[in-house]
Amino acid sequence: MLIVGNWKAYVDSPQEAKQLAAATKRAATKTRAKVVIVPSFAHLGFLAKAGRSSVSLGAQDVSLATLGAHTGEVTASMLRRLPVSYVIVGHSERRAAGETDALIAEKTKRALEQGLTPILCVGETARDGDARYLQTLRMQLEAVYSTVLPKDRAKIIVAYEPVWAIGKTARDAISANDLIEMILYIRKVLTPYLPQKGAGKVTILYGGSVEPGNVRDLAGGSRVDGFLVGHASADAKTFSALIQALS
Ligand code: 13P
Repeated sequence: MLIVGNWKAYVDSPQEAKQLAAATKRAATKTRAKVVIVPSFAHLGFLAKAGRSSVSLGAQDVSLATLGAHTGEVTASMLRRLPVSYVIVGHSERRAAGETDALIAEKTKRALEQGLTPILCVGETARDGDARYLQTLRMQLEAVYSTVLPKDRAKIIVAYEPVWAIGKTARDAISANDLIEMILYIRKVLTPYLPQKGAGKVTILYGGSVEPGNVRDLAGGSRVDGFLVGHASADAKTFSALIQALS
């Protein structure tokens, strides 16, 4: 099980970031699940300095640019050297800010070129009666898998994050039954890109109002490989309880 805490822009001061990271590390030593925290760029540098740890680090975004005259950009090679192991690409909050499928595919490539593991977020904004949302999901996945080198495809982690379930409460999350269907659908879409049963081995996470109160049901009922957690990862007590609920 992989538990990824996306702090988004919830954590303000360096002090808070250090305390939250320390509490998460303590919780992570008591579980067999792998735990990853994804702080903002402002906090990533000093959290990475702490050395070997029970918790791995991810970045919330990566630049298209490689080293050079690109003011404001954080490149994949800078992240690798911190070291950071994971990069979130295609988060719905970045898609809402204008990121396209083509741009997300390029960012995924930049991450892979540097040996970082991309966590590719996909998910529909709303559910319609005639299942057009499945088509949205297919397009988001195919844009990336058709662009990256075949040898790199198996390295991508997929995070299914339906936008309608993000930032609410456990009640509003997907049901375990619906999640099973979405995971099967994602594997079906990926089958042509990952032959020889590769699609069955892709790590698929769910994100969208995962909290201590629903995480165990979602995990048990759906065969999901892990979770991408937003608001519940930005509070030390809540995230520790969530990690504990899975151990
Ligand atoms: P919430 O857990 O706050 O719904 O956020 C999910 C998410 O967007 C994680 O990337």
